[in-house]
Amino acid sequence: MSERIVGSEVNRQEREQEAQLRPQNFSEFIGQNNVVDNIDLMVKSALVRKTAMDHVLLSGPPGLGKTSLAMLIAKALGTELHVVSGPAIEKKGDLAAVLTNLKPRDVLFIDEIHRMHITVEEILYSAMEDFRLDILIGQGASARTMQIDLAQFTLIGATTRSGLLSNPLRDRFTAHLNFDYYGPEMLSVIVLNNSRKMGIDLGEEAKMQIAQRSRGTPRIANRILRRVRDFALVNKKSVVGIDEVKAALKLLDIDDLGLDSMDRKILSVMKNYYQGGPVGIDALSATLGEDKQTIEEVYEPFLLKQGLILRTPRGRVLSESAMKHLS
Ligand SMILES: Nc1ncnc2c1ncn2[C@@H]1O[C@H](COP(=O)(O)OP(=O)(O)O)[C@@H](O)[C@H]1O
Ligand SMILES: [Mg+2]
Repeated sequence: MSERIVGSEVNRQEREQEAQLRPQNFSEFIGQNNVVDNIDLMVKSALVRKTAMDHVLLSGPPGLGKTSLAMLIAKALGTELHVVSGPAIEKKGDLAAVLTNLKPRDVLFIDEIHRMHITVEEILYSAMEDFRLDILIGQGASARTMQIDLAQFTLIGATTRSGLLSNPLRDRFTAHLNFDYYGPEMLSVIVLNNSRKMGIDLGEEAKMQIAQRSRGTPRIANRILRRVRDFALVNKKSVVGIDEVKAALKLLDIDDLGLDSMDRKILSVMKNYYQGGPVGIDALSATLGEDKQTIEEVYEPFLLKQGLILRTPRGRVLSESAMKHLS
């Protein structure tokens, strides 16, 4: 079975390896200039005002640097970062415990915030707005609200689908910053930096090849780099060249456009089962046997960005260039 190169799941081993490759300061955080400029200003303002930074929502496909940026923000503010995953918080009380533990100006990072349970989410409203928890105690006629003051904190929400956030939650973020896929120039800088961190001597051509085939995504570039390193180690090569990169890409089943097997499966199902479309997301997900959300959040954005799929009012349509790519 071939390794899933695009999927949003990150296993423990990869998390540990990723930690070593995370940018340690803003100068190591490459690209996303608009996002970084906004953050830079907000951080500096918070430091001058000596208060918590404004709440910020980071959105964009997986692997583009949302978690890395949140870590850099907390570091720049000189405060502690508390990390939770939205869907993992099951009860209001769990989130309340996290919130009451925050110290002034701390940063709370909620990953996949669009997947938080709505009942849990509701306690964030007053927490974000007034730094206060409103907790309902008891039931019926004897019910009353208890209020708990919280430290002034910063909420950083990360989401792959900002459109799925409820309006009350979205409105409470002062800044909405969007991550976009990286171009090959930016990615080649990231690839070079990370190859050095991994102790790989990477040739120029090899570097460019990885940058072009990483689906615009630093996390995928890191995955390719790891495989490339394996090839170089096993073949006792001191400098990694284009041959090692090609071998790694072949093993990972990544094609010329940087598409992996699932990307291609989506395109070929659209072509062979639906005559190029239009096809709705439900039908597509059923035919592929792949979760609808994963298709929409992980695969489709890149295929749309590359102009391989087009969205029409009647559904998704395969573009001419996709047809060409498949044949
Ligand atoms: N702007 C960037 N500059 C340098 N490396 C980056 C950047 N964005 C992401 N990376 C690399 O990609 C990896 C995954 O990024 P991460 O922040 O976990 O993405 P996300 O949280 O958006 O899924 C990081 O460990 C880092 O090595
Ligand atoms: Mg993340």
